[in-house]
Amino acid sequence: MFPDPSSNSARNFERAKDVLPGGNSRSTIDLKPHPIYVAEASGSKVTDVDGNVYIDFINNFTSLIHGHAFPAVTEAVTVQLPKGTAFSFGTEQELAHAELICGRVPGFDKIRFMNSGTEAVMNAIKASRAFTGRPKIAKCEGAYHGSYDFAEVSLNTGPEDWGQNEPRSKAYSKGTPQGVLDDVVVIPYHDEVAASELLKRHAGELAAVVYDPVSSRVGMVPPSQAYLEMLVEFCQSNGVLLIFDEVIAFRLGYEGAQGVRGVTPDLTALGKIIGGGFPVGAVAGRSDVMQVFEPGQGLPHGGTFNANPVTMVAGMATMEGMTRDAFDALNAMGEYGRQGFGEAFLRAGISAQVTGQGSLMRMHLTDRSLNSYRTIYPKPEESARMATLHQYLLNAGFYMAEYGLICLSTVNTKDEVDAFIEATIAGLTTAEAA
Ligand SMILES: Cc1ncc(COP(=O)(O)O)c(C=O)c1O
Repeated sequence: MFPDPSSNSARNFERAKDVLPGGNSRSTIDLKPHPIYVAEASGSKVTDVDGNVYIDFINNFTSLIHGHAFPAVTEAVTVQLPKGTAFSFGTEQELAHAELICGRVPGFDKIRFMNSGTEAVMNAIKASRAFTGRPKIAKCEGAYHGSYDFAEVSLNTGPEDWGQNEPRSKAYSKGTPQGVLDDVVVIPYHDEVAASELLKRHAGELAAVVYDPVSSRVGMVPPSQAYLEMLVEFCQSNGVLLIFDEVIAFRLGYEGAQGVRGVTPDLTALGKIIGGGFPVGAVAGRSDVMQVFEPGQGLPHGGTFNANPVTMVAGMATMEGMTRDAFDALNAMGEYGRQGFGEAFLRAGISAQVTGQGSLMRMHLTDRSLNSYRTIYPKPEESARMATLHQYLLNAGFYMAEYGLICLSTVNTKDEVDAFIEATIAGLTTAEAA
């Protein structure tokens, strides 16, 4: 049972608090009253240090597209390890992975590797500043783009900040310098008229608009085609770069979300799946913009572990397994899940819905119309129901993110999805009766 103060997980947490602030190195894995510690994982299943088994519907926050310990990755890494794991030299592994990714996406003339999605967004923003000579960026209210100061602005605005209609630049971390807030223009995610008005006001100072076409924190209600066209048109006519954050969204298709939506951004931030379960980030895009990374061209960029050969071979083994057919099958499973949830909620008379695209879903415990970050923002009672459901699902052997993010991998079966839906209905019925 979770939580269990006498469990190995609870005991580990007591030890962890002595040496790690908050007991971990990653705020997103925090779980009250204690996190769960994993012993091992394989395919779709994770086993914790107390022997409990969970079907993993979060896949390390979307980074594992083939589930855990994918045999092709294990083999590639096992071959690489005795050959060395980090060099201050170029490697053919880096070259091969760059060719693989650039070969798939028409807008990727060049790519530059780094170690996390945070670094990818940061370097894409820095590249846009170096290329345009302008200081500001625009981003959407509520959208998560990693931990770079500028990318974090207004990540957590809530009803207390919504006095005025226009989103405002709000610090996420304590101590964020005012200069950072001044240089970030915050726009709404779904309203192209309001967003365009705000963008035009700052057009001459903007280096880039950073946009995630499947933003999980903005509720995963897909943007309209009109919104995407507005972004492209605004950027093209004002010399502003369009940066897609596809750190998660790249799992939507063979050519990423940009292929699915028919948009070619100037730069794309990548991460997660392209590292095959190892730390990774990358910036890819137009050659004239990517030129800023060349020596003497404005953006020196080091990184001891950039393009690490272990990450490169793991990433290649992963992406080679993601053929067009594999993406189609995975996305069809996502559609199956979304439909299944919708029908099950209706049958059970439960006020809930599931949004999302491809293999990604986000559960909302409300039946109100969801068309903006502010309508998606859960009311306190919805968050409380979600917390009860999350704990119920844990005890039933299913793991999703605490805020209702669900992510499938190629190893998930229809039976697993059906069982997850059934457990969710049982959990919500329990929560509603409580
Ligand atoms: C859309 C998006 N951008 C950037 C990041 C940051 O990536 P990382 O955690 O690898 O730094 C994340 C992480 O979840 C993300 O979801």
